Amino acid sequence: MKFFIDTANLKQIKEAQELGVLDGVTTNPSLMAKEGIKGTENIKNHYKQICEIVDGDVSAEVISTEYKRMIAEGEELAELHNQIVVKIPMIKDGIKAIKYFAKKGIRTNCTLVFSPGQALLAAKAGAYYVSPFVGRLDDISYNGMDLVAQIVNIYNTYGYNTQVLAASIRHTMHIIDALDSGADVATCPLSAILGLLNHPLTDIGLEKFIADYNSVNK
Ligand code: G3P
Repeated sequence: MKFFIDTANLKQIKEAQELGVLDGVTTNPSLMAKEGIKGTENIKNHYKQICEIVDGDVSAEVISTEYKRMIAEGEELAELHNQIVVKIPMIKDGIKAIKYFAKKGIRTNCTLVFSPGQALLAAKAGAYYVSPFVGRLDDISYNGMDLVAQIVNIYNTYGYNTQVLAASIRHTMHIIDALDSGADVATCPLSAILGLLNHPLTDIGLEKFIADYNSVNK
């Protein structure tokens, strides 16, 4: 399973990259706003900076919701860097735009996916990634990870190549559950990735190794 970091924070992206296990980055307009990135040129420049830090795919989301404007915006984003994947919302014009980009060889990430039917449309249109939002389904008492497993099963059964990107991951256990569900990618906050490091027996064991070494090496 690939690991993406879900943030527009350059410091956190660098920290994850330095860990050596990062495969890419996802952003969205909320995450860009959180970092205070505003204005078309600043936003584009920020995406370029992210691409320079990481080696893998960087999802950059369109703001438009109308087909022609989505195409224009997506083409501009795709031109910024060959690592850019154009993120398109799961709406009617979005599906048409995904189809258009697939024909042109521009990779897309279909976002805001909350049902198997939406995931089917994204795959049929030729999305490179589909992003079911796990945490937001959990928030309303649906099991978000069940949706991930259902989409993986549908894509495997019918031979769709679209990669399932588990999004809206909120904590470390979500990452383990994404592995169990067969997700191709999990996009996670840095805290959830770092949480994978933790185990009390590791800390106890290391403390004892160092104490035993010091007891005879004085
Ligand atoms: O990857 C999508 C993600 O940014 C949404 O996360 O926590 O706002 O539901 P959240």
